[in-house]
Amino acid sequence: MSQLAPLILTLFFAAPVLCWRPWPNSTDSLYGGSKKYEGSSEFVHLKYHMGPVLTANITVYPIWYGTWKSSQKRIIRDFIDSISAADAKPPSVSGWWKTVRLYTDQTDNNISRTVHVGEQKNDRFYSHGKSLTRLSVQSVIKSAVSASTRPLPINPKSGVYLLLTSDDVYVQDFCNNVCGFHYFTFPSIVGYTLPYAWVGNSAKLCAGVCAYPFAVPDYIPGLKAVKSPNGDVGVDGMISVIAHEIAELSTNPLVNAWYAGQDPVFPVEIADLCEGIYGTGGGGSYTGQMLNGRDGATYNMNGIRRRFLVQWVWNHVLNYCTGPNALDQ
Ligand SMILES: *[C@@H]1O[C@H](CO)[C@@H](O)[C@H](O)[C@H]1NC(C)=O
Ligand SMILES: *[C@@H]1O[C@H](CO)[C@@H](O)[C@H](O)[C@H]1NC(C)=O
Ligand SMILES: *[C@@H]1O[C@H](CO)[C@@H](O)[C@H](O)[C@H]1NC(C)=O
Repeated sequence: MSQLAPLILTLFFAAPVLCWRPWPNSTDSLYGGSKKYEGSSEFVHLKYHMGPVLTANITVYPIWYGTWKSSQKRIIRDFIDSISAADAKPPSVSGWWKTVRLYTDQTDNNISRTVHVGEQKNDRFYSHGKSLTRLSVQSVIKSAVSASTRPLPINPKSGVYLLLTSDDVYVQDFCNNVCGFHYFTFPSIVGYTLPYAWVGNSAKLCAGVCAYPFAVPDYIPGLKAVKSPNGDVGVDGMISVIAHEIAELSTNPLVNAWYAGQDPVFPVEIADLCEGIYGTGGGGSYTGQMLNGRDGATYNMNGIRRRFLVQWVWNHVLNYCTGPNALDQ
């Protein structure tokens, strides 16, 4: 195991370089210095590499690691269930998902319209401690699918295993250059190849980075925080990261389908290309035009029961980032 570890670790892809978050070293030059509009760029060559995508009804299995309030769980579940809820008023989360649905597999099947929350697992006693590595994240998932009571189902074809860590848990690279990541589990650790993602609650560790723009880092002067739509800065900030990972897992579950870049070890995927863009005109440190509720909260789309702020995703038909609140729609 210990000899294999360095090799395995290099297989995990590194932080995307095209995105914008208020990292300590971030600059506004997203694409080599030229000012771009909503990520549009002739330099982006998103390609399909013939691997599978998630075309069957997608089930998301949340694993709640650490201490979670039921109100926090509800916000996240409502978001996931909003993805295919047709009745939210526009601009809606299901409108956002339409861009993800533009991606197909070899037989021209689109990404599934349906995404819903499946069985859930609580890991409230921090089974693998309060500091996780990328490999121990897989061990947490193994515990959830092999638990003696109510294990999560094994669903390699259309399941998405979503590990959510509470605000007192550190995960390798959290805050330095990642707020979440996705990959697939190794049969040698979990027993199966399952697409999974991790997203952490950054409230105590680095809200100014991972819950931006609901919090701002003090090392970048001039940025101003906006009010979050569901009254929970950490969880409202997680929503966009969860959306990012679900969009990428659906279009690149085994990291051999839709991505840009020469190196499959460091793929640039459909949400990486639009990180930090929430509305028309977005790019660099500017989020783009967002919406303001009567309560003063900032959001850009409606879901079931609530509102959310979610980054846009890359539209490979138009070759730029799109979202449901675009002003030209
Ligand atoms: C499926 O993808 C194709 C190719 O991008 C697109 O033209 C079509 O509108 C998509 N269908 C749906 C239902 O989104
Ligand atoms: C997929 O979801 C739709 C609802 O969006 C449902 O009507 C259909 O029966 C589901 N298909 C399967 C195979 O579960
Ligand atoms: C910024 O720092 C991260 C690590 O914290 C590094 O991965 C990234 O390459 C750096 N970016 C630039 C533009 O220097």
